[in-house]
Amino acid sequence: MRAVLGVGGGIAAYKAAELVRALQQRGHDVQVVMTRAAQEFIQPLTFAALTGRKVVTSLWAAPDSQDILSSAVEHIAVAQENDVLIVAPATADLLAKFAQGLADDFLTTLYLAFTGRVVLAPAMNTAMWEHPATQSNLDVLRGRGCSIVDPDEGWLACGTIGAGRLPDPVRIADRVDSLERRKRDFEGETLLITAGPTQESLDPVRYISNRSSGKMGYALAEAAARRGARVVLISGPVNLPPPANVERISVRTAQEMRAAVLEQLQDASIVIKAAAVADYYLANAPQQKLKKTAARLSLELDPTPDILAEVGQRKGDRLLIGFAAETENLLEEARRKMKAKKCDMLVANLVNRDGLGFESDRNEVDIISHSGHVVHAGPAEKETIAERILDQVATLRLSLHAT
Ligand code: PMT
Repeated sequence: MRAVLGVGGGIAAYKAAELVRALQQRGHDVQVVMTRAAQEFIQPLTFAALTGRKVVTSLWAAPDSQDILSSAVEHIAVAQENDVLIVAPATADLLAKFAQGLADDFLTTLYLAFTGRVVLAPAMNTAMWEHPATQSNLDVLRGRGCSIVDPDEGWLACGTIGAGRLPDPVRIADRVDSLERRKRDFEGETLLITAGPTQESLDPVRYISNRSSGKMGYALAEAAARRGARVVLISGPVNLPPPANVERISVRTAQEMRAAVLEQLQDASIVIKAAAVADYYLANAPQQKLKKTAARLSLELDPTPDILAEVGQRKGDRLLIGFAAETENLLEEARRKMKAKKCDMLVANLVNRDGLGFESDRNEVDIISHSGHVVHAGPAEKETIAERILDQVATLRLSLHAT
């Protein structure tokens, strides 16, 4: 893939040299663009030597340049020549400019002219990263389809510990690779995907829920839309912006999720149930807040409807992909659920490991197909896992059509 790497002006700019290497080792052809501030941290010569190509350092040609006209439209040429734009480090200033559509140098102008995929790898001080202005700029950029590789946590150049380190170059290169699968192999399909937790009320202010962030289901929805599918995402309460080109229906309880799934089922050719639906709820939850007393409180809970099992009963010729979140006997439990709920494929994940599964940006799963074949994926970013799952769904679809 042809990649243009925009290097922003942060202390982590020197790590962009490692990123160039990581991308090249995976067979990508890399061109580098540097902001003025980036050149305060690292010399263009480093990138020219690594890439063997001219490094673009300004929107303007030198006053004595013979080639003033071509320099005036160079950002358009660079935009057209490359498949992916990666910005690392993406500073708070660059994120704000991209979100606002400001174009006052080569990189910001290139961003506006660029129609391919964009990967942003932010790096900055923790307070700047957590600032609502930065987070709302990121929401805007995510909503426009940019792929954000969240920063790592650790020691920062300012002497503090926290989130804000440039993501490891391998993680950034992994993300670029996952975008490379830009095939439109789900064109013509309608995918119904569920994501996130459900909340079951105990009274007007309290509820039962779980640790699902929705990230896995949202990554699947985003990847499926990118691969050409119409995607309907039925989402429990999460703190994520809607992915680009996805129709999101927000629900809160298992009952609401069931109703939305059944309503949308007719149009769906593939159903993926990544949501962590609460298994129990309090029927007839009180309308008023439960009063605290010194006595022990017992609540009798009823099982929620098993949406996956219900879809399994009426799945017709749709492909049905379930998930299983387990803390022991992973494959055995997953196979049992797959059979009981009539799934064509099941994604099994162990959810009692730090940094994987619930809430995390990463996951590691076993994808079990109806033939019993198991494909292992990860540990990797949920975006990469989502691509692997869709690859397996595409393979399954082919094999079912062939029989
Ligand atoms: O959201 P993240 O933070 O990114 O985390 C991702 C995840 C861990 C939630 C996800 O990868 C995952 O494992 N999702 C399934 C969680 C779950 O509820 O698993 P389960 O084994 O309890 O349920 C099995 C299947 O039945 C699931 O497809 C579930 O959606 C479905 N189900 C469960 C209960 C119910 N009442 N109705 C259902 O449809």
